[in-house]
Amino acid sequence: MAIRVSRTPFVGGNWKMNLTRAGAAELARSTAAAAAGRRVECVVFPPFVYLPDTIAARTADMCVGAQDCSAETQGAFTGQVSAAMLRDIGCCATLIGHSERRHGLGETDALLTKKIARALEAGLTPVLCVGETLAERDAGRAHAVIETQLRGSLAGHSEDALATLVVAYEPVWAIGTGRTATPDDAAEAHRTVRKTLASMYSVRFSEQARVIYGGSVNAKNAADLFAREEIDGGLVGGASLNATDFAAIIAAASSRRT
Ligand code: PGA
Repeated sequence: MAIRVSRTPFVGGNWKMNLTRAGAAELARSTAAAAAGRRVECVVFPPFVYLPDTIAARTADMCVGAQDCSAETQGAFTGQVSAAMLRDIGCCATLIGHSERRHGLGETDALLTKKIARALEAGLTPVLCVGETLAERDAGRAHAVIETQLRGSLAGHSEDALATLVVAYEPVWAIGTGRTATPDDAAEAHRTVRKTLASMYSVRFSEQARVIYGGSVNAKNAADLFAREEIDGGLVGGASLNATDFAAIIAAASSRRT
């Protein structure tokens, strides 16, 4: 039996390895202004070095997350940044397992489950990214891949500990390609996410967790995607670098009926 809950829309701006210090600060200010008064949880994810400048522009309507955190707590881990450090400087969230890290840097579900543990201990909202490659989709394995990634990345975490979890469904073939999943395809994948969460935990948990879509979301297609009851918002790369486009995406998420 489905439990109807109201989920606040979530919109993330993943700035990846872009911008300058001044550009990040300016984009942070205009994004915060765009989020003001909207019924949206808006989080921007700047490059690590621009976190302090972005955090300086944070408001009650926009908080700041990291693009990654270490799976370790502290010590001899050159180049890594711990979840506790991110929390210490004012971050509210962190991406976990973005496909550019899973596929580009070989991050495994076993590593990601440790990163989620560190994020939760530090009080950061984990935004866990899952999604299939084009070859996996063409082989009819999209849903199996999503399920395997969720089971692997969430292994060992209890439903209570994961209360803040956000899952971003990001088909790899749609990221940065201009090729968006259709609202139907995205909604179907989101049902797979919820079905998996329900089987791992409970129906209540699966209905409460936010599941957002990422992959070439833009100012034009956002409203159609967010019109689906399964899609609680978006994780936006390229279009989040344009303040006007991202403002339109925030507005589309905010006017979503839930
Ligand atoms: P994109 O990136 O919107 O540029 O496709 C999305 C993401 O990687 O989160």
